[in-house]
Formats: sequence, C-alpha cells, structure tokens
Amino acid sequence: MSQADLDAYRLAAIDELESAADKSAIDAWYRKHLSSSGQANQFKRQIGKLPPEERRGFGQAVNEVVKNLQDIYDNRHKESEAAALAQRLAGEKVDVTLPSRQRRRGGLHPLTQTLREIYQVFLGMGFTVYESPHVELDYFNFEALNMPPHHPARDMQDTFYVNESVLLRTHTSAGQIRAMQKLGPGSVRVILPGLCYRNEDVTTRSEMQFHQVEGLLVGPDVRMSDLKGVLLQFARALFGEDQAIRLRGSYFPFTEPSVEVDIRCTLCGGEGCRMCKYTGWLELLGAGLVHPTVLENGGYDATKNRGIAFGMGVERIVLLRHGIKDIRQFFRNDSRFLANFR
Ligand code: PHE
Repeated sequence: MSQADLDAYRLAAIDELESAADKSAIDAWYRKHLSSSGQANQFKRQIGKLPPEERRGFGQAVNEVVKNLQDIYDNRHKESEAAALAQRLAGEKVDVTLPSRQRRRGGLHPLTQTLREIYQVFLGMGFTVYESPHVELDYFNFEALNMPPHHPARDMQDTFYVNESVLLRTHTSAGQIRAMQKLGPGSVRVILPGLCYRNEDVTTRSEMQFHQVEGLLVGPDVRMSDLKGVLLQFARALFGEDQAIRLRGSYFPFTEPSVEVDIRCTLCGGEGCRMCKYTGWLELLGAGLVHPTVLENGGYDATKNRGIAFGMGVERIVLLRHGIKDIRQFFRNDSRFLANFR
C-alpha cells in the first residue's frame, strides 16, 4: 500500500461521488467509503502492518484523504438537500396574482323572506307568533272548528290521515282552538304560521305541502271593521302603499260571516288582464268572524266575545309578489332559482 495507491483511490472516490445522481446514490457512496466498514477505514487498518518508520507518514496521509473526502461529501450532501428542497418548493409554487375563486354565498329562501316580512307586519300590530303541531288531532283540525265527522266541508280538503283520529293538519286554523285554550280570555292576538299538508296532485299551482299564516284576534270589542283594517294594512305593507282590498261573501264552517279577501291585481293594477281573468282583483286569503261554536270550544263566552280570523297561503303570496309561475320551485332546492332571491 503506497502513497500512490492512496492518491489513486482518492481521485476515484471523488469521481464516483461526482457522478452520484441522487440522494440514495450519495448515501450509498457514504456507506461504501466513509462508514466504519468503508474503504477509507480499511486504509487505517493497513497502518499497523507497515514498518514502524513508515507508519507516521502514511497515517497522516490516510487521515488527510479521509478528511478531504468527508469535506467533499458534506458539500455534496448539502447541495443535494438544497436541490431537493428547491424542487419541492417549485412544486408548491403559488401564483399570488391569480384572481381568487368566487365563494358562492347562500341566502334566505324566498318563502322565509316573505314569512319574516309577514311576521314583522303583524308584530307591528301587536300580534305574537303561536306555533301549533303539524301532526294534529282530527278534533282540532276539523271537529272543534265546527266540522263534525261526515261534515261535507271536510271534503274541501283532501287529508293525510295517520289513523282515525290523527292527521297532518290541512290548515293552520287547527291551531285556533289550541291558542284560545292556552292563552285564555282577553289575550288572544296571534298569528299561527307553518306548513300544512293536503293529499293533492302536484301541479304548477298546488303542492302536497304549503305554508299558511293564520291570524286570530278575540275579545269583547272585536268587530268586522278590525278585520278590514288589519288586512288593509297587511296588504299595503306587502303589496304597496296604494293597495286596496275587497271583501266578497264566502263560506267556511268556522267563520260567520265568511269572506274572501282580494287585492288589486299586481300585474295590471286593476285594469283587467289575463292574470286576474279581467276582473282587476286577485284572491288573497279567506277570513271572517269566528263562529260562536268555535269561540265556545276555545273556552270563550260567545255572547260576550267576538273574534276575527284569517288564513293565507304563503306560497301564493310569494308567487304574486315575484311573478313566479310554478309553485313546485319552492321545494326543488334548485340553486338557479334560489339565486334570484339573494
Ligand atoms: N283555513 C282556511 C283555508 O285553509 C282559511 C281561513 C282561515 C278562512 C281563517 C277563514 C278564517 O282555506
């Protein structure tokens, strides 16, 4: 083992390291040359076999080679780490000048918007909101409202029955008796909002579920003019300050007299058009004075109290306000439809 062998080894090892292409080749080079079982250390083991006078010089030469290779390796290792990092960062590069992605904002459903407006109008007139069950007793939905079993008026509403005495409420009027019994004489001035259900064919004009808002006001001095005043104010708040209402005689078993309330056609303003069938008026809701039997069922003395009641279909009101043609849109969750109301 000579100095020349050592030099030749050093140059060969450096060449080898230079041609190592990636981290694993560099690691392999390290194991081959500089680890404890590596070639550089083999040279150290040779030292002892040399004649004593050569040991010192050769030993120094071996140490220099090892140190030299270690330095070159350290550099190469650092370089390769830096290259790997640069490569990773290049892959993660973000173009900060790109426009950001538009986030889609949600909004309140058109029904919710109108419902809240309706609440506001009636809260402003001293009404409170009273919620009553959707799954209801036949008693509250029909019987207590002056529609005993086999009453023909029951056929006006196709009902989903759960069993003989339990059903899905067909109108919010079902909450009238509950509100009267619960709140007691003198304090009933409520609106009853919520979903109602009828077993009807689904068409552009009718759904199996729909919202109603019921109004009920009972007291010793309540009269028909209160009904007119409340409903005129309501119509103006929702359909414009110049709105007018019209009352037509009608029939409901739970009101006497009963009326159908119209507003001026929102499309033609009363001139007459296809939407109002050339009458100039659109039907808005049903109403009347609470029938004495219903007052008694609610726990009121019908000789000393009177009540006004009205019930409106909320989908219909939203249709009229926004010129929507198909009631089924309300429950389809089509974001293209809903986006129009954000
Ligand atoms: N409940 C009636 C309906 O669904 C509406 C109504 C409510 C009529 C209150 C008069 C009084 O058609």
